[in-house]
Amino acid sequence: MEIVIESSAEKATDVVVRLVSSVIRKKPNAVLGLATGATVLLFYRKLVEMKLDWSKITAFNLDEYVGLPPRHPHSFHRFMWENLFRHVNIRKKNVHIPDGLAADIPKSCERYERKIVAAGGIDLQLLGIGTGGHIGFNEPTSSLASRTRIKTLTPRTRKDNAPFFGAPAQVPHHCITMGIGTILDARHCVLLAFGKKKARAVAQAVEGPVSALVPASALQLHPRVTVLLDTQAASRLKLKRYYRWVSDHKPAGTDSA
Ligand code: F6R
Repeated sequence: MEIVIESSAEKATDVVVRLVSSVIRKKPNAVLGLATGATVLLFYRKLVEMKLDWSKITAFNLDEYVGLPPRHPHSFHRFMWENLFRHVNIRKKNVHIPDGLAADIPKSCERYERKIVAAGGIDLQLLGIGTGGHIGFNEPTSSLASRTRIKTLTPRTRKDNAPFFGAPAQVPHHCITMGIGTILDARHCVLLAFGKKKARAVAQAVEGPVSALVPASALQLHPRVTVLLDTQAASRLKLKRYYRWVSDHKPAGTDSA
């Protein structure tokens, strides 16, 4: 894992913008795995400002709430179109987001998995982390080999996401999420976490044991993971001075995953 600690969320976001822009420039038909949430809002704003060519890019989103139609103000479909897709020249047919209204959820999830494979697999998977350690909506005790499927959100995740909905009771109970196995198939995973409330989950994910109780810890099994943190999210890391030293002395052109 490469752990990059920046002095602010904005600076860490700039690093990810550079990273993703370079993937899009070097591989115009790249397959991107995308996330929603407060952490990635600034990232999408800055990425749009780069005015890149998205005409051959394919995108797969991590998750969607069950029962929310795409146009629902709090669906992840809506989030993605509002914050990214409508501002870039991506083709609608190249945008993939789990279907929260699927009549047959298991079949729809299998199709989602097949579409990722047919697209050639995900080149770069963007990830946030939940305060309980989830990636995607893989809540604690998710199988580390899981594939896209329906999951039940924990009360903590529903509470964390309540501000988007106005009231906790309005947050759906179920979601469809790529599995941890699906995420680990991506060629490069990039996790962003900002703020003190993420510090514990980040420390457990990066320095704790690999455990289904902290789904993000499964990233330790992946050969290429970049973790972008602000100082607060990094505050509980035992080896933070070492990570800073590594970043400051990184040999040019290398990846210290
Ligand atoms: C969203 C997703 C989640 C979020 C995580 C952090 O597509 O997959 O794992 O990344 O819940 O959410 P924020 O950024 O709102 O703190």
